[in-house]
Amino acid sequence: MMASNQNNQPFLATRLKRIKPSPTLAVTTKAAELKAAGHDVIGLGAGEPDFDTPDNIKEAAYAAMKKGETKYTAVDGTPALKKAICAKFERENNLKYTTDQITVGCGGKHVLFNALLASLNPDDEVIIPAPYWVSYPDMVMFAEGTPVVVQGYEENNFKITASDLEAAITPKTKWLILNSPSNPTGSAYTPEELRSLADVLLKYPHVYIMSDDIYEHVIYDGFEFKTIAEIEPKLFERTFTVNGVSKAYSMTGWRIGYGGGPKELIKAMCMLQSQSTSNPSSISQAASVEALNGTQDFIEPNNTTFKRRRDMVVKMLNEIKGIKCLKPEGAFYVFPSCKGLIGKKTPKGSIIKNDTDFATYLLEEALVAVVQGSAFGAEGYFRISYATSDAILEKACARIKEACDKLA
Ligand SMILES: Cc1ncc(COP(=O)(O)O)c(C=O)c1O
Repeated sequence: MMASNQNNQPFLATRLKRIKPSPTLAVTTKAAELKAAGHDVIGLGAGEPDFDTPDNIKEAAYAAMKKGETKYTAVDGTPALKKAICAKFERENNLKYTTDQITVGCGGKHVLFNALLASLNPDDEVIIPAPYWVSYPDMVMFAEGTPVVVQGYEENNFKITASDLEAAITPKTKWLILNSPSNPTGSAYTPEELRSLADVLLKYPHVYIMSDDIYEHVIYDGFEFKTIAEIEPKLFERTFTVNGVSKAYSMTGWRIGYGGGPKELIKAMCMLQSQSTSNPSSISQAASVEALNGTQDFIEPNNTTFKRRRDMVVKMLNEIKGIKCLKPEGAFYVFPSCKGLIGKKTPKGSIIKNDTDFATYLLEEALVAVVQGSAFGAEGYFRISYATSDAILEKACARIKEACDKLA
């Protein structure tokens, strides 16, 4: 394939220049390559639960196939799944959506992407609290919007405050993206913190809110999860509440995400989807109906396992000189600081200049794959996903310690 044709026109679309490959998937790929080449690499980069999809959900998929539910469905979700989503929103979030306010896509990522592509005009601003999930800024830029990054500092558990939010709002602000519990930090907004953000938002009726609640069910120590439209019903009309089955039900490969929001947005997203992916897999949709309507009994034991791992990883990391790690409220990530190790020298004589050098050092020296904080808009940190076995995590932390102790 040629990079340009005879008229010197580039082959690839210039719009691709606005984005870069997902850094988290890049780390996972690099770790997999090293593994395939025979290296004993431990990958702590992936953002998916290591638990299998529960059997009742798999059975629902088999049954759907046997019943012949193997054809195209309505573009943005089957009536049965939309009904199950409405029931979920009402039962768990106290939000009353009708089925024409619901959209279903191929994962939460697809739903967020469609929502931004369907609503952003050039120069519209989107407020993204950092540390952020890697895809938000790129999705915004791909849709010709402008990301406005607002830093959440470690001193405030990586969360933004009401005054931080208010300072970032301009007449061009279209969306605020909230993600609680957060990828990459695991931090979650308390009902009181959401209340204070809601009070600011009430003053600016032109700002819409995209609430990415995908880690809603992965919370610990009795944390009370709330979503913003529940906290302030006056914001319901301008909130797009996004969720999915990937994280809570260990269904990352099934590719089902959904959202509830203004009819106008839902309709526009449906049109976009009708000209791109069409419906998400009919079988995955049937399985998701069971995920939402069926037993939720496995969520608690899964969280008990995650909590045990979180506690172990936080403890082991804090025992390493130069590393400092907060204990987050949810998700399956920790976001430790490696600032204490910047400027140190590796045994091979190179200097760790930043978090990217540090992550590269861990991959090469400790054979542990983590993601550098700068990928999430936070220099001096790194993300560890602890969605893997206790034994692997213990080994990984021991290797990280050994590698850090070698820095001089
Ligand atoms: C914050 C956040 N939002 C959305 C998603 C999308 O998940 P999926 O597309 O699997 O539903 C992820 C996945 O990593 C995530 O971390």
